[in-house]
Amino acid sequence: MSHSRIVFPLDYPSLAEARAGAARVRGAVGVLKVGLELFVKEGPAALAIAKENGADLFADLKLHDIPETVERAIASLAPADARFVTVHAAGGQAMLARAVERADREAGGRLTVLAVTVLTSLDDSDLAAQGVVGRAQDHVLRLARLAWSAGVRGFVCSPAEVRSLRTELGPHAILVTPGVRPAGSAAGDQKRIATPAQAIADGADFIVVGRPIRDAADPAAAAREIAAEVARGVA
Ligand code: C5P
Repeated sequence: MSHSRIVFPLDYPSLAEARAGAARVRGAVGVLKVGLELFVKEGPAALAIAKENGADLFADLKLHDIPETVERAIASLAPADARFVTVHAAGGQAMLARAVERADREAGGRLTVLAVTVLTSLDDSDLAAQGVVGRAQDHVLRLARLAWSAGVRGFVCSPAEVRSLRTELGPHAILVTPGVRPAGSAAGDQKRIATPAQAIADGADFIVVGRPIRDAADPAAAAREIAAEVARGVA
């Protein structure tokens, strides 16, 4: 089902607005993503919105701390029954391994740890300022390999990276791609964008589409059109 590959971020400032936004796309997207804006304010009640709407939960918490703390955060997430949680690959191999082990122990394979490699807001010169030499895209691959060797099997990546990550990591990696825009819709602040069909054809398993759905007059209809584009990408 192509709609199950669409992740809709609940990028809303309050629980009430997030609940209303989720209800508007009920049945039209497979996964609802809760990010820091909503989670910091509303906590587990925000995480519960996914299940309330029959969708899978993507807890976009971007965990990055010492291994013990990240492992315990994953354990704390267990009651929310999430399908995805994000961690920063830059947290290092021990942190990543502990995150994956705890996720497997708590959720028996249902919870996939997704590594964020290089934030798309950083470019080569930002990395150089941190002492990382070379191109951002090489660092993405370096961090992805490191995460893979720690047992991470899922990755968040931009449309510009999805092809090289698929080639590098093979068919068993789970790739989730934001920066997706249906043909003809506004890019917003996304710089490197792809259409749903292109992102899927390049190897994405899931696409994150926010504003083109959230700001549509009929969000469910917008999501259904995107699902049709996903189906074309698969074909
Ligand atoms: O489709 P739209 O640009 O509105 O979706 C943005 C969503 O994708 C936000 O939740 C944002 O945090 C997330 N995201 C992103 N770019 C990344 C990683 C995540 O836009 N590189």
